Amino acid sequence: DHAALAPTPPMGWNSWNHFGADVTDADIRHAADELVSSGMAAAGYRYVIIDDGWQGQRDAQGELHSNTKFPDMKSLADYVHGKGLKFGIYSSPGEKTCGGYTGSLGHEAQDARLFASWGVDYLKYDLCSFRRHLDGKTEAEQTAMMKAAYRLMRQQLDATGRPIVYALCNYGWGRVWEWGAEVGGNLWRTTDDIRANYESMMFNANAQLGLQRYAGPGHWNDADMLEIGNKGLDEPETQRTHLTLWAMLAAPLIAGNDLSAMSADTRDVLTDKEVLAIDQDPRGAPGNRVMQEGPIQLWARPLADGTLAVALVNTLNHSLNATLDFKALGLTGSVQAHDVWQHRDLGRIDQQHVFEVPSLGVVLLKIGKPQAH
Ligand code: DGJ
Repeated sequence: DHAALAPTPPMGWNSWNHFGADVTDADIRHAADELVSSGMAAAGYRYVIIDDGWQGQRDAQGELHSNTKFPDMKSLADYVHGKGLKFGIYSSPGEKTCGGYTGSLGHEAQDARLFASWGVDYLKYDLCSFRRHLDGKTEAEQTAMMKAAYRLMRQQLDATGRPIVYALCNYGWGRVWEWGAEVGGNLWRTTDDIRANYESMMFNANAQLGLQRYAGPGHWNDADMLEIGNKGLDEPETQRTHLTLWAMLAAPLIAGNDLSAMSADTRDVLTDKEVLAIDQDPRGAPGNRVMQEGPIQLWARPLADGTLAVALVNTLNHSLNATLDFKALGLTGSVQAHDVWQHRDLGRIDQQHVFEVPSLGVVLLKIGKPQAH
C-alpha cells in the first residue's frame, strides 16, 4: 500500500538547494546532527536526502558505486538512522542525471536492490536525460513513456520489500498530478526548480491552483523544496510567507538551507508547531487561493477539526491594512479567531476587523465555526 508511506506530506532536508552537486558525506552527517540539535527532527523533519552529485561509475557487473565524496554509503545511512532519522537518495530514469552523473536507465532493478541494501527510505527520481527519449513523440506517447519509466522503478523498489517513499521529479510534465498516484508516487513536482527569491517562491505556490483535488493522504503535489534561510529568502517575513503557503497547500516540507549556519529566525520559522500542524493536518485537503484583490491574496484550507486555516498574503513591499472577505470564505456574522504565527487568540472577529499585514508578509489565522444565529 503505497499511500501508507506518506499519510501526511513528507518532511525532511535535501542537499540540493544549498550544496548543489558539491555535497559530501560530511555535509550529510552534519545535516543529520543539526536536524536533531536544532529541534527540527523533533518538529517532524525526518528524511535526510542526498540529491544529485553522489554517484560514481558502474563496474563490470553494472553495479553502481558512489563517488569519492561518498566513501561508504551504507555507513552514512547507518549514521543517519542512528540519529533516529530516515535516509533518502536521488537518481534518474535516464542514463544521466541533470548534473551529468550516472542515472538508472537499464539498471532499475539493480539500483533498487543497491539502495535497499544501503537502507534507503526515500527516492527522488528526476527525469533529466530521459527527456531526450521524448523528442519527436506525441504528447500522449510522452505521457505513456514517463508513466512506464516511473512505474518501472516503483515496481523495482517494491520488489526489494523495503518501504520507500517515492518522489517523482518531472517538473509537472504530462500533467503528472493526473497519474502520479497511479504509478505509485507519493509526491510529484508540479513546476520547474524553485529559486531563493520571493517571486520564484510565489510563482511555485500559485502554480498549485487547480491541482488541489489530485493531492491527499499518501500522494501530494510538491511545490518544490524550501528556500527558507537561503540568501534571498532569509528575511523574517518572507520566510513566514514561504512556510505559510506550503502549509496551506499541504505541500511536502523539505528544507534546503545550510543547517550549520541557520539563524534563530530561520529555526523558529521552520519549527513553528502550529504552522507545521496545518501542513500536516490529517484531513490532507490542500487549501486554495479564494480571493485576490490588488496586492492582497486570501487563502483558505479546511482542517480536520472543523476549523479553517486562513492566510492574508501581502505581495507589496510595504505593510497594508486588510480585512477578511467573509463571503469568499463562506462565513457570516462573527467567528472565533486565533493568530497562528503570534500564537494568540483574538476572540471573536467579524468582517470589519482590520489586520495589518507586513511587507511581503502574511497573517495566518485559524478560524472556528461561525456562531449559529
Ligand atoms: C532538477 C531538479 O528539479 C532539482 O530539484 C535537482 O534535483 C536537480 N535537478 C539536480 O540536478
